[in-house]
Amino acid sequence: MSTTALVLAAGNGTRMKSQKPKVMHELLGVPMLHLVIKSAKEAGADRIIVVTGHQNELVDECACQIEGVETVYQDDRIGTANAVELAKPLIGDDDEGTLVVLAGDVPLLRPETIRSLIDDCVTHGAAMSVLTAIYENPFGYGRIVRDETDHLEAIVEDKDATPDQLEIKETNAGAYAFAIDGLFDALSRIENNNVKHEYYLTDIVKIFKETGKRVRALPVADNDETMGINDRSQLAKVTKILHKRITHEWMDKGVTIISPDTTWIGPDVSIAQDVEIWPNSYLRGQTSVGKGSTIGPDTRLVDSTVGEQSVVDSSIVLESEIGDFVNIGPRTYIRPGCVFETGSKAGTSCELKKAHVGPGSKVPHLAYVGDTTIGKKSNLGAGVITCNYDGFVKSKTVIGDGVFVGSDVMLVAPVTIGDGANIAAGSVISTDIPADAMAIERADLRVEEGMAKFIREMKEQA
Ligand code: UD1
Ligand code: CA
Repeated sequence: MSTTALVLAAGNGTRMKSQKPKVMHELLGVPMLHLVIKSAKEAGADRIIVVTGHQNELVDECACQIEGVETVYQDDRIGTANAVELAKPLIGDDDEGTLVVLAGDVPLLRPETIRSLIDDCVTHGAAMSVLTAIYENPFGYGRIVRDETDHLEAIVEDKDATPDQLEIKETNAGAYAFAIDGLFDALSRIENNNVKHEYYLTDIVKIFKETGKRVRALPVADNDETMGINDRSQLAKVTKILHKRITHEWMDKGVTIISPDTTWIGPDVSIAQDVEIWPNSYLRGQTSVGKGSTIGPDTRLVDSTVGEQSVVDSSIVLESEIGDFVNIGPRTYIRPGCVFETGSKAGTSCELKKAHVGPGSKVPHLAYVGDTTIGKKSNLGAGVITCNYDGFVKSKTVIGDGVFVGSDVMLVAPVTIGDGANIAAGSVISTDIPADAMAIERADLRVEEGMAKFIREMKEQA
């Protein structure tokens, strides 16, 4: 028996006041649409179909970044019932299956909640189960009307509700499980004689009831999961809930987070036991941190891996690999494509880009290293710069094993420094240096005795 998830994402998202489609706005670095799709997948959906409409090219592209996702286009946004009906050609006659309908702007629903909704519908042989939430201020939501025996009788939209119905605090969370058998027949009978002249999916309750089918309303365990995003304030509010959920999950798994309020961890990040995260740190994208490492304070890791027992202090690391026992920072900028092998180091105050730093090698102070490979146990002094760009092309610097590069050296690429070589401080190196050689490039030093005093006295007389 198969489960298909249908994610409704055709709406205009007017209240976001944005050039970007609403469902592409990000929570902790992930588009809200991806969060919904991932939850549906984890809940066990075999197929995921996204209904797109407003700015559909962009939303299609975003949806299809997740493998296997299909999309269907809704030209006229004439209501949620129509949005579901449009998926009929894709779903076909899967009369055994279940269809889960979710809203693209409700990103906090947990996979377990979606699963329990599917199970509720299937185990009770219901035509439909709808998820409900209790809100003290239910303004704007569809209300759940129950009969004397507490069974679901109808869902009434806010704008169509009677004063009595407006008092109801149980609301439609906008997530449903349907038996596919009979669903499209019922949908085709929904009309738009309501205040908004839309085809409301919620009207399907009445139609099922008329035909003697079972409909169920399942209260959610945690109301926060059902919060929708319509404007930027709600985006911030929902982000904050996700943020809290994620930091607490990692603390439960044995990660020390000194200041959960100021630590922002993306949903796809993974963190091993006994990692310590100091305040004002951001871990985003496909990032992982190995056992016993310390991150922060004031650090940003994006799409990067950090091994075990490493330290990244007050630094930014983008799309790079940091091995075990590595020390980065303070105040170091690791740009994409860097690899740090075991026991290597970069910082204080360095910038590295596409740099491979071999085991035990160190770039300890104020250096720029780009398009460079460094072998093992080499040391670059303060202020070393690899001049990788001549204004036309980028060139590579290769530094061997056990090399010593003195302070303030310019390595003008393309250039290779052989194993064991020693480059004297202040040199500009523009040819290859053989292994074990010493290279000194300096103008002759001129010392003119008494000249400084002479100039000073001349100025005083003037
Ligand atoms: C809907 C429910 C309401 C529920 C609320 C929960 C209906 C009629 N009402 O109201 O009972 O309490 O969600 O958040 O369903 N969409 C389409 N095509 C359309 C219309 C909407 O894809 O033609 C999408 C929207 O992009 C959105 C979702 O469906 O993702 C819900 O539509 P929206 O207009 O936001 O409905 P609500 O008024 O919030
Ligand atoms: Ca909505």
